[in-house]
Amino acid sequence: MTEVRGDGAAAPSDAIVFFGATGDLAKKQIFPALYRLVAEQDLSVPIIGVARQGWQLDQLKGRAVESLKAHGVAAEGAAFNQLMQLLRYVDGDYNDPATFAALRHELGTSRHPLHYLAVPPSLFSTVAAQLAKSHCADGARLVIEKPFGHDRVSARALDAVLLRYFPEESIFRIDHYLGKEPVQNILYSRFANPVFEPIWNRTYIHSVQITMAEDFGVDDRGRFYDETGAIRDVLQNHLLQVLAVLTMGPPTGEENEAERDQRADLLKAVRPLDPAHVVRGQYEGYHDVPGVRAGSTVETFVAVRLEIDSWRWAGVPIYIRAGKRLPLTASEVLVIFKRPPRETFGEIVPAYSGHVRFTLSPDVSVGLGVRVKAPGERMIGRDTELILSRQAGEDRPPYQRLLGDAMRGVGELFTRSDLVDAQWRIVDPILDNVCPLYLYAAGSWGPAEAAEMIGRDGPWRNPNPGGTG
Ligand code: BG6
Repeated sequence: MTEVRGDGAAAPSDAIVFFGATGDLAKKQIFPALYRLVAEQDLSVPIIGVARQGWQLDQLKGRAVESLKAHGVAAEGAAFNQLMQLLRYVDGDYNDPATFAALRHELGTSRHPLHYLAVPPSLFSTVAAQLAKSHCADGARLVIEKPFGHDRVSARALDAVLLRYFPEESIFRIDHYLGKEPVQNILYSRFANPVFEPIWNRTYIHSVQITMAEDFGVDDRGRFYDETGAIRDVLQNHLLQVLAVLTMGPPTGEENEAERDQRADLLKAVRPLDPAHVVRGQYEGYHDVPGVRAGSTVETFVAVRLEIDSWRWAGVPIYIRAGKRLPLTASEVLVIFKRPPRETFGEIVPAYSGHVRFTLSPDVSVGLGVRVKAPGERMIGRDTELILSRQAGEDRPPYQRLLGDAMRGVGELFTRSDLVDAQWRIVDPILDNVCPLYLYAAGSWGPAEAAEMIGRDGPWRNPNPGGTG
């Protein structure tokens, strides 16, 4: 159990251990996040990389230099030197108690280490058990990467194992979307402005569209992706969390679980997906990616229609789509309002008459779509969008925020056991090959069936980075 200081706050972690130190995630996300924590927040605890590559510390340092270089950080300066000085390395097999004895030795006097498991999910239970046996888990925190389980049953089984060794408040399940500035921006805009809340419901909202488009393919992640697919890779976690932030009730009270409680309530109210409202797609050429099985029917695109069974949202269709090899890379959320109850000006009113748009990438913006009168004698209008705020993409990488929070024992931006369970509950009925798979051309907006699925609530509104409307 993590010790609570006299002032009621949890004791900060006094060492960082990251398993999978030689892997891809460490290179892409962890080293840059650690560097920024050192540079901006004065991180000064030992940082111990663990892997089973037969490496020495110098090789790990070399990897860190490579990673930082790829992120535009030169191998010089006080923060860089401090990071190098904090780095340690333990090599060994995760099944071998000797590896964990060496880790315990390296931890020295540390009483509250933070263990970050950036390893394949099949190793989560093994590492957690070994940490407990070697006493490395005493007073410690555990950070777990997604995917958390492969379906609802396996996620529950994994939870049961982890909870044997770590209490829930010491487990930090990462969904990096929750650490993203633009996702925090949705939450902030909703509850810092009294104008949104009165219209954020079934009376005024016609439908919601969430789009996560990526123009790149599966590339060098064929083996991982072919066991995952778009539903498990981004819908079950990132996009459902975005939906929760967009539609949850206002956090109340002073409990630090208030926000997570609201997200959990919302996710528990989402109706499990109906296969009739799901379109799966695969881009042409996916089978040529190294690591992908011949004849694979794994989806690289998914579009769904969801419903939330609550008084606030009953009857409001929520459309979510995500795909690889689409025409561009951009993510956004569009909240579409109902048309006015009467056509005062007798013109042809479009299917809906206004929206709020939150763009998550490449830039971060909030836009208000409204209809304004076109100049001239006739009362005829056109659609326009007011950009309420626009800023360049996130400058604080989500992993920096999340690692810093976990070290301080702040769990708000992590998923909780009940949230993960609620998320699997939603997607469980459509996992694997329940829904047909349609091919789509690379560079298109996915299979035509997705347009049919949205039907009269559509069309899908494609992100238009930098543009309006
Ligand atoms: C990851 C998925 O979790 O999120 C990737 O595994 C996806 O497939 C990525 O590309 C998207 O994250 P971001 O932060 O680039 O939008």
